[in-house]
Parts: sequence; C-alpha cells; structure tokens
Amino acid sequence: MKIISTIDELRDQLRGQLRTAFVPTMGNLHEGHLSLMRLARKHGDPVVASIFVNRLQFGPNEDFDKYPRTFQADVEKLEKEGVYVLFAPTEKDLYPEPQEYRVQPPDMLGNTLEGEFRPGFFNGVCTVVTKLFSCVQPRVAVFGKKDYQQLMIVRNMARQFALPTEIIGAETYRAEDGLALSSRNMYLSAEERAEAPALYQALNFVAGEMRAGHLDIFSVERDAMDQLAKRGWKPDYISIRKRIDLQPPSAGDLAQGAPLVVLAAAKLGTTRLIDNLEI
Ligand code: PAF
Repeated sequence: MKIISTIDELRDQLRGQLRTAFVPTMGNLHEGHLSLMRLARKHGDPVVASIFVNRLQFGPNEDFDKYPRTFQADVEKLEKEGVYVLFAPTEKDLYPEPQEYRVQPPDMLGNTLEGEFRPGFFNGVCTVVTKLFSCVQPRVAVFGKKDYQQLMIVRNMARQFALPTEIIGAETYRAEDGLALSSRNMYLSAEERAEAPALYQALNFVAGEMRAGHLDIFSVERDAMDQLAKRGWKPDYISIRKRIDLQPPSAGDLAQGAPLVVLAAAKLGTTRLIDNLEI
C-alpha cells in the first residue's frame, strides 16, 4: 500500500485510473470501516482510503483534539484489506490556506437532526468530501449507513453538482449485542459499553410500534426517549423520518406506507452516540 500525504503526489499516483473506489475516513479504523473497504473492492479498482480528521466538521466544544488517532494500527488493517493507496494528508496538505470556500447543504437536510445539534457539521463534511473527491476523482465512493444523514446529504450533493462519483451506502456493522461500531465507542467505560446497546433497542422499540400500526409518531418517539432517559441517557432526538428526504412523515405519508427510518442521538455519560434503523 502506498501512503501519500500530498495532493500532487496523489494525483500522479492515480492518473489515468477510471474505476477508483474511494472510502473516506477519519481513522481509528474498526471492523465497520473494513466492511466499507470490502464493499469498495466489489465496486471498483483500485481501492483508495483516506484518513483525515477534519477540523471543519467539529464544533468548538467537540472532541477534535481528543479524537482517537491510531495511524500505525490503521495502516496495518488497510494493508490486510488490499487497499492500494492511503491518502493521509496533514492539515497543511489539505488546507494550505484557510478553506474559505465552503459547500453548504440545504437547510431542510443540513439543519435538522445532527445539523440541529451540531451547527456547521454538514458544511464541514460536504466541504471536505468535495475536496477529497476533487483529489481522488473516484468513480464510486462508499459511506456507511450508520451516518444516515451524512450519506443522504453527500448523495444529494453528488447528484446536484453532477459529480462523476456514484455514492454507495454500506449497511451498519454491529457488535453481537447490537451496538453499531463507532470510533467514539472507545470513550465508553466498561459499564457504559454494557449499557450502550439500549440505543439500538430503543430504535427497535420504535420500529416495532410502527410495524404494529401505532402511528402516533410523537408519542412513540417520546416513549422511546423516556425509556432511555430512565436508564440515565440524555437523548438529543429519536425521530421518525421519511427515508426519501429525512422530513417528518405526514398522516398521508403514513397512510400510504412511505418508507421510513428512525434516527437517534443520545449521550451516555460524556459520549454522544448516534444510530438509526430503517423501518
Ligand atoms: O464519516 C466520517 O468519518 C467523516 O464525516 C468523513 C466522511 C470522512 C468526512 O470527514
């Protein structure tokens, strides 16, 4: 595997490649990321991964400084997956001057759910993804469904800008007890780790209620949040949305059986976890 940090070198290395499959990451790789690499391999060749902890998508009180950085272990994992190029720019490489031009998603998608609790987050994500796409020029790029809203926003961005990159969504990788794998799980104490699957259980509760025909979505969402709060969580939201546009479903949408997804974010101790489930 070639490890490349500058944009010029990356361009030299990938010149003429028409089927590149790209997986952008912020490192601290776990099985979930590796499943993205395997999916990428099915959709293209060569597979290019990136590791870059993108300051632009972190709020001033978020965990940019303490975000886990495990470069050497990450390299070993990517080698085993047969990744051809790892693009690992420094901040100076990717942002040699202040990144003043930004990509701003529409408010409807970008300011709801995660965007409401993390102002500027999706602006930072869209800006770095656009820049990484410009560097790698992939034919396909793989994003996990764990970050459902991110996947949706990037997919719409690629469509509206007519980017030549197809966006592929990968199923969420879960531990045996249901907890979605995430780099932030490593912040959990042993006790919190044992409690953490309750988030996925809350999503399953919501899905079960909807499937059983309990269509008062506000009371179902509130019950699920109350259940978590009673166990000591601080839920930001548990929200049933339409898959197509992540807006709340109307009574008509529910009656017509519009495809739904339930999304959740909640704090356990000081760790904020997110997850979602298609209903
Ligand atoms: O999902 C992530 O790890 C990040 O948001 C991404 C897509 C790599 C952009 O920094």
